[in-house]
Amino acid sequence: MCGIVALVGSREASTILVEGLRKLEYRGYDSAGLATVSTHKGSKKGFITCKKAEGKLVNLLNLIATDGAPGHIGIGHTRWATHGKPDVKNAHPHVDTLSQVAVVQNGIIENHTVLRDNLQKQGIQFCSETDTEVIPHLISEALIRLQEEGVTAKEEMLFLAVRETLDLLQGSYALAVIWAETPDVLIVAKNKAPLVIGFAQGEFLCASDTSAFAGFTRTILPLEDRELALLTPLGVEIYDSLGKRQHRTPSLIVGSEKDVEKGQFRHFMLKEIYEQSETADQWIRRFLPNGLSPSSPIALSFEDSFYESIEAIQILACGTSRHAAMVGAHLLEQFAGIPSTVFFASEFRYAPPPLAPNVLTIGVTQSGETADTLAALIMESERRSSLKNNLFSSRQLGITNRIESSLARQVSNIIDIGAGLEVGVAATKTFLGQLLTFYGLAIMFAAKKKRRSSKEINEICCQLRLVPNQLRDLIKTHNKLTEKLAHQFVNTKDVIFLGRGINYPIALEAALKLKEISYIHAEGFPAGEMKHGPIALLDYKVPVISIATQGVVFEKVLSNAQEAKARDACLIGIAPESSETEIFDHLLPIPKVSEWISPLLTVIPLQLLSYHIAAHRGLDVDQPRNLAKSVTVE
Ligand code: AGP
Repeated sequence: MCGIVALVGSREASTILVEGLRKLEYRGYDSAGLATVSTHKGSKKGFITCKKAEGKLVNLLNLIATDGAPGHIGIGHTRWATHGKPDVKNAHPHVDTLSQVAVVQNGIIENHTVLRDNLQKQGIQFCSETDTEVIPHLISEALIRLQEEGVTAKEEMLFLAVRETLDLLQGSYALAVIWAETPDVLIVAKNKAPLVIGFAQGEFLCASDTSAFAGFTRTILPLEDRELALLTPLGVEIYDSLGKRQHRTPSLIVGSEKDVEKGQFRHFMLKEIYEQSETADQWIRRFLPNGLSPSSPIALSFEDSFYESIEAIQILACGTSRHAAMVGAHLLEQFAGIPSTVFFASEFRYAPPPLAPNVLTIGVTQSGETADTLAALIMESERRSSLKNNLFSSRQLGITNRIESSLARQVSNIIDIGAGLEVGVAATKTFLGQLLTFYGLAIMFAAKKKRRSSKEINEICCQLRLVPNQLRDLIKTHNKLTEKLAHQFVNTKDVIFLGRGINYPIALEAALKLKEISYIHAEGFPAGEMKHGPIALLDYKVPVISIATQGVVFEKVLSNAQEAKARDACLIGIAPESSETEIFDHLLPIPKVSEWISPLLTVIPLQLLSYHIAAHRGLDVDQPRNLAKSVTVE
């Protein structure tokens, strides 16, 4: 988490840094800060100006508007607290004792306690509780030593001091360093955290994510792990950890990085819920155009051998992406007949299942930067490669919304869900894009492995083509219905969501959405599981929201809902309108569609209900407390 941005150029750095930070605020918004280097007239030696503010970026902006931060070189940071409270002293940049070296960092320095103890023994006093603060102190120590050893060129000194310091760090980092003595040198480095360099005319920007480059440049170069780069107004030099110069050509950002605005909507989340019909429309155009052959019904570019050789699938993901993966696994198993298992990426890394042959590992992450998911994929790839047996070789597929992300660079096969930039921290349209991608994969596996007849495949494809319009109508209707209903639940403390089969993950997703943005305690259960314990929670104060779609478990879910009603629970149904659904106190109706397709629709009223409850509670829907859009720490 955390966003870093750094700049060296010829314009006032603070304005560009703040603009970059604004685009990275989704990575954390506990506090923000920046530091610049400038020189007094006639002097070559510079001085550092460091400004930090607690809370949202706007507070930093106000501070700079009054105090200023002069200089053409600078580093900036927007924080998601890991070590130490989100206050000014823990905000980045962090500086050494004499405020000559300033550092911003994203990631976690795992051995910071040992490093801090050593520095404290040498008499260095720390001002923050962060893991980061060891870095400027270590660089400063190294600079003093290098000077004593007779190194005189300042640029070389800083480069060597940073390199030596990096050798001491364990864990993950993307960092940027400035030194008062080198007013036009910026050093950046990374290991297991993203960092990309942007190239413009006489100006170079470096950021956690390419979104910070919008309006600045489209020419980029991502740094590799353990590389460091030296940026001056004259150019960029990249080195490996041994100091060997690396030569790579920058590339152009794929697609358009439009600066997204809320438009007529009060929140990005509501806008993004509305955009789901467009997400589906785009997906159909790209992956399900008319005229595809029955043997390749989805426009995915993998060779036939890719599908044929796979006997089982394991999917690694976190949060909402994991819920999409659960729907995906249901489709892959029940529709395409391929044994599929979903893992919490964070658990998989430390307790993977025994290796099986011919397994496809799918990593699902909308941001493409989730550290748990990336690390789990690397671990799986390494343990498979070590076997040196073709049957066990590592086949990996990534599903992401960020084609420029670390995931896309890490795996050999990638599917871009193409939902467009999602700003709200609560994932909505990217969830839909992930779901659709799993429909595509399941249909292709079913066709290639001949697990379903052409008629069945054609049927599900036809149903998918109807989804964009169904979504359009559903969103419009349910925005009104849920806004009204939400008033009743503004002071509710607990909510239970029930689903079964392919809609059980939707119950989980609904509970996660409500928790994230309204801070109301919510749980999702498979409806049949209530009687085994959770039913004890029910009374008139706990609403039960039940997803009951036509299909094999329809009657069962209705019976489970009856059981809840008998305990005085207020019952809300997400179901097609019929005499059977009259048992619900409130019905949020969805069209009668096949059970396969239903998750694409049932999720809509649930997203909207969460949104309206949170909005009625007056909460910051787009940037809920304690969260960040991209979780780049383990
Ligand atoms: C979604 O609303 C959440 N913000 C969160 O659970 C998210 O899905 C999770 O952190 C995984 O993110 P990713 O898809 O970028 O990997």
